[in-house]
Amino acid sequence: MTPPGPVSVALVGYGYWGPNLLRNYMELPGAWVKTVCDVRPEALQKVATRFPSIALTTDYAEVLADEGIDAVLLATPIGTHFALARVALEAGKHVFVEKPMTADAREARELIDAAAARRLTLMVGHTFVFSPPVRKVRELIETGALGDIYFVTTQRVNLGLHQKDVSVIWDLAPHDLSILYYWLGEHASDVAVNGRGCIVPGIPDVAFINLKFPSGVVAEIQASWLSPVKLRRTIVVGSKKMLVYDDTENVEKVKIYDHGVDFRDPTDFGEFQLSYRTGDIVAPKISGTEPLWLEAQHFMESIVAGTAPITGGEQGLQIVSSLEAAEASLRAGGTQMPIELPA
Ligand SMILES: NC(=O)c1ccc[n+]([C@@H]2O[C@H](COP(=O)([O-])OP(=O)(O)OC[C@H]3O[C@@H](n4cnc5c(N)ncnc54)[C@H](O)[C@@H]3O)[C@@H](O)[C@H]2O)c1
Repeated sequence: MTPPGPVSVALVGYGYWGPNLLRNYMELPGAWVKTVCDVRPEALQKVATRFPSIALTTDYAEVLADEGIDAVLLATPIGTHFALARVALEAGKHVFVEKPMTADAREARELIDAAAARRLTLMVGHTFVFSPPVRKVRELIETGALGDIYFVTTQRVNLGLHQKDVSVIWDLAPHDLSILYYWLGEHASDVAVNGRGCIVPGIPDVAFINLKFPSGVVAEIQASWLSPVKLRRTIVVGSKKMLVYDDTENVEKVKIYDHGVDFRDPTDFGEFQLSYRTGDIVAPKISGTEPLWLEAQHFMESIVAGTAPITGGEQGLQIVSSLEAAEASLRAGGTQMPIELPA
C-alpha cells in the first residue's frame, strides 16, 4: 500500500552502521522514523539520549505488528537479513536491507518473490551506487568518453575490523561488485580468488578477486582488513581514456587521463607500431551530497511511486551469487568458478 503522507519507518539494528542510516532518515523529508529496534537495550539507550521522540523496542515482533510502520530498515548482521526481511514482507512492510542482501543466493531469490507477490518494495543497501563520483564514472562510461572499457582494478584495503562471522569477501567486496556491475551494466560470468586468513583461522582477511565479464572486460578487486594505509582506489582503463577514482580524496575524487596506447598494424613485414599518448588530466566537478542521503531518498521515492529501486532484489541477488562463487573459488584454492543465479 502506498502511504498518503511521509513513509513511516522502523530501523532495526543500531550497531556500527545503523546510526548512519538513522541520521539520514531523520533529516529526510518524506520519511518519519517511528521506531528503532535492537536486541541490545544499551544500543537503544543511545537513541533515547539523542532522539527522544523515537519509540524504542528490543522486540522485533512489535515492529511487525505495528500497522503504523510502512517500512523496515535492516542494519543487522548478514546472517539475520533473510529471516528478518522475510517476516517483514509477510507482515506487509517494505524492506530496505543492508548489503549483502542475504548469506545465500536461494534466500535472496525467495525475498524477491515474496516482495513481488505482495507488491512491496525491496531494496538493498549498495550505498556506492548512490555516490556522486561513482555516478560520474558511470556517465563517462555510458557516454563513451572512455571508449571501450578494457579492464578495471580496484583496491579496498585498510586496517579494518575483523568480522566474526564472515570473510573479507562478504564484508568488503559487495561494494566493489555493486560499483562494477552498475558501471558496466552487466555482471561477471566467472570468478577466481586467491586469499588467506592471516589472523583468525578460517576467516580470510585478504582476497584477490579476479572477474571476467561477458563483454570481455576483466577486473580485479583487492580486498583486505590488513593494510598499513587505507586505499579506496579504482583504475578504469578504456580505449580512449583512463581514469582514477579515489574515494579517500576530499575534492578530486575522479581524475580522467587523456592517456592511451594505439596499435598500428605493420604495413610491410616489419614490426607493429605503438604510439603513446599522454595528454591532459581533468578532474570533473562532482556533487558533495552524501550517498546515504541519496540512497534513503531513493528508497522513499521507490515506495511512493511503486517503482523498482536501482539497487533492488535482482541486483542484490547478482552480488550474493558472485560472493558465493568467489568464496567457493577461494576455498577451492583459486579455481575459476562460474557465477550462476538460482532460478
Ligand atoms: N552500506 C555500507 O556502506 C555499510 C557499511 C557498514 C556495514 N554495513 C552493513 O550493515 C549491517 C550491520 O553491520 P554493523 O557493522 O552495523 O553490525 P553491528 O554488529 O555493529 O550492528 C548490528 C546491530 O544489530 C543488532 N541486532 C542483531 N540481531 C538483531 C535482531 N534480530 N533484532 C534487532 N537487532 C538486532 C545488534 O544488537 C547490533 O546492535 C551489515 O549487513 C553490514 O554489511 C553496510
